[in-house]
Amino acid sequence: MSVIWHDVECGSYVEDLPLWRSLAASYGDPVLDVGAGTGRVAVDLARAGYQVTALDRDPDLLDALGTRLGRNSEIVVVSSQAPVSTVVADARDFNLGERRFPLVIVPMQTIQLLGGPEGRAGFLRCARRHLTPGGVLAVAIAEVLDLYEVADGLPAPGPDVREEDGFVYSSQPTAVRADRAGFVLERRRETVGPSGERTVEDNLIRLDRLTVRGLEREGVAAGFEPAGRRHVPATDDYSGSEVVILRA
Ligand SMILES: C[S@@+](CC[C@H](N)C(=O)[O-])C[C@H]1O[C@@H](n2cnc3c(N)ncnc32)[C@H](O)[C@@H]1O
Repeated sequence: MSVIWHDVECGSYVEDLPLWRSLAASYGDPVLDVGAGTGRVAVDLARAGYQVTALDRDPDLLDALGTRLGRNSEIVVVSSQAPVSTVVADARDFNLGERRFPLVIVPMQTIQLLGGPEGRAGFLRCARRHLTPGGVLAVAIAEVLDLYEVADGLPAPGPDVREEDGFVYSSQPTAVRADRAGFVLERRRETVGPSGERTVEDNLIRLDRLTVRGLEREGVAAGFEPAGRRHVPATDDYSGSEVVILRA
């Protein structure tokens, strides 16, 4: 995904940040942030004084994270290590050598982007291998989403909008549909340039269907023990999520 659309569509979500901070306070750092993108959560944790390793398969998003950190004077470096290190890797198959983490987090339904049970099994294996003994994996999922279709006259959340270098980027959710495999989220992305030039493209994201109990079962099969659940409430613009906690 391009950096700008990632930031337009994910950047303003803050409802879950207190939860990740409270888990870091309970379990300690370094924290492995899986599917970190441009660092919405990683930068917040670094700002709170935690060391974070940000893993994503998209190098452009991680580069943007690095640039953002360079600009962010609020981040206090608590040791000689950089507050956020980045790793380009696939969450379904990664190997960080001897590095171990007391806390691995997967915010914003990223686990539902991994291509179903097989992709998740690969991820759970890797996550477990990288946890310290007794460390925890915390995964945000959406079990259900409100379905709508703007074309049918059903109400949709408002657009996410951001202005940068004279361009206005606007992403309007247009539909959420369900099928057997999961949910399809549709958006219309519109860019208006400094002289009024306008481009429009449609975008589609597929989220695998996943329940709390299903993920706990898959966790047990991968050698984890279920260690609680948390809830992140819905906002007007974002669906709520359940956070499944699994102990290694
Ligand atoms: C919904 S965004 C969430 C970004 C960030 N965690 C946040 O909460 O704002 C999903 C992220 O997961 C990454 N991603 C998707 N599939 C991945 C995979 N197989 N391995 C690693 N990262 C992946 C995408 O590149 C994207 O940055």
